[in-house]
Amino acid sequence: MSVSMEKIVSLCKRRGFIFQSSGIYGGINACYDYGPLGVELKNNVKAFWWKSMVYDNDNVVGLDAAILMHPKVWEASGHVAGFTDPLVDCKVCKQRFREDEIDPEKLKIRQCPKCGNKGSLTEARQFNLMFKTNMGPVEDSSSQIYLRPETAQGIYVNYKNVLETSRQKIPFGIAQIGKAFRNEITPGNFVFRTREFEQMEMQYFVKPGNDQEAFEEWKEKRKNWYRALGIRQENLRFHEHQGDELAHYAKAAFDIQYNYPIGWKELEGIHNRTDFDLTRHQEYSGKDLTYFDDVNRERFIPYIVETSAGVDRTLLTCLVDGYAEEELENETRTVLRLAPHVAPVKAAVFPLVKKDGMPEMARKIHQELKKLFNVFYDETGAVGRRYRRQDEAGTPFCITVDSQSLQDDTVTLRDRDSMEQERLPIAGLGHELEKKIRTGE
Ligand code: GAP
Repeated sequence: MSVSMEKIVSLCKRRGFIFQSSGIYGGINACYDYGPLGVELKNNVKAFWWKSMVYDNDNVVGLDAAILMHPKVWEASGHVAGFTDPLVDCKVCKQRFREDEIDPEKLKIRQCPKCGNKGSLTEARQFNLMFKTNMGPVEDSSSQIYLRPETAQGIYVNYKNVLETSRQKIPFGIAQIGKAFRNEITPGNFVFRTREFEQMEMQYFVKPGNDQEAFEEWKEKRKNWYRALGIRQENLRFHEHQGDELAHYAKAAFDIQYNYPIGWKELEGIHNRTDFDLTRHQEYSGKDLTYFDDVNRERFIPYIVETSAGVDRTLLTCLVDGYAEEELENETRTVLRLAPHVAPVKAAVFPLVKKDGMPEMARKIHQELKKLFNVFYDETGAVGRRYRRQDEAGTPFCITVDSQSLQDDTVTLRDRDSMEQERLPIAGLGHELEKKIRTGE
């Protein structure tokens, strides 16, 4: 990988993709705010996921469950007992670490990875990653609830509601996008691991015995989705979880990993959760969560195949994968090669110079195109500088009104990646661009 995380962080700050949360107060660790370009990119990623999961699959429907849930949900799910990381403290520098992230050689002699003191690390204790809060005015243990650490449970507790109202039959899926919170011991690497993040999860309910086939099908579908998102295939691979790596609910799990500047890391998890979750919720709630198959006249608790992606991590992947610095004649250009359909701004409109009626014509084009997608108007500075600004923002197309435009009602259309320009009539420009944005031509 050629791009460093520092370059991505710097571009994000400079261009208004991502800011440190509460920056004027010195920031709050591992929380980030998305600026004007960031929120567009994020919304586009989420909309593309929603389209691919819900609109493109007749048997997948959507849901938006509350973040705050009955605390028993997290007992049933196993999170109260088992959603923990082993935490060790350094008695000298007071730094905290996840035990499983410390170099085994250093761990043997209890050497602190930060200050280097030997024998300074405490024994590990299990640290629960769920954020606790209180519901209502009384702050005692009976009012304690959690900020959800995954969106999945909101789907499980609604599975019967959805089944009964959407007329779906097994196999069918429920998709959801929403915030999740984890009090991570070692957050970091920008938005890769944060304490507040967003997930895009789909839970697919199948007949026991058909789970392996569904698992394989979704594994492939999800990897292909990243290709359609514009991510280079050579930077994606599967990683199979084995032994201790498997979560408490999973029979089988594969990560889709991406080759980040920090190495190959998980981008999305695909899990065969068996009937673990519904069985537990049936037990803890006392409600019947079985499914009746009226063709075969049999009753069972469905198995669940889950696809679980992080919005923030996907966005980071788009930025890392798209970032390039290119040597031109007298300068280096930074360009974000985002797929046109996820790019924050689809096109920028410029008058070549700020006179002779060019700004008026350019503004008119801008007004028309705005009806179709997100367009930016810019008339300040040399046109070359304006192109560079859009390259950095990932804008796939720039439209320039020049003196010829005034005579023949055509404009130049510049392509971000090839930097080639073609001349197109203004009439039908929106339609042409829509085609290019959709197919990524
Ligand atoms: N429901 C299953 C589940 O939550 P996970 O592997 O713990 O599985 C799924 O999380 C995805 O959520 C990850 O692949 C990652 O993209 C995202 N994710 C998890 N923890 C995160 C964090 N602290 N910061 C950012 N994204 C995170």
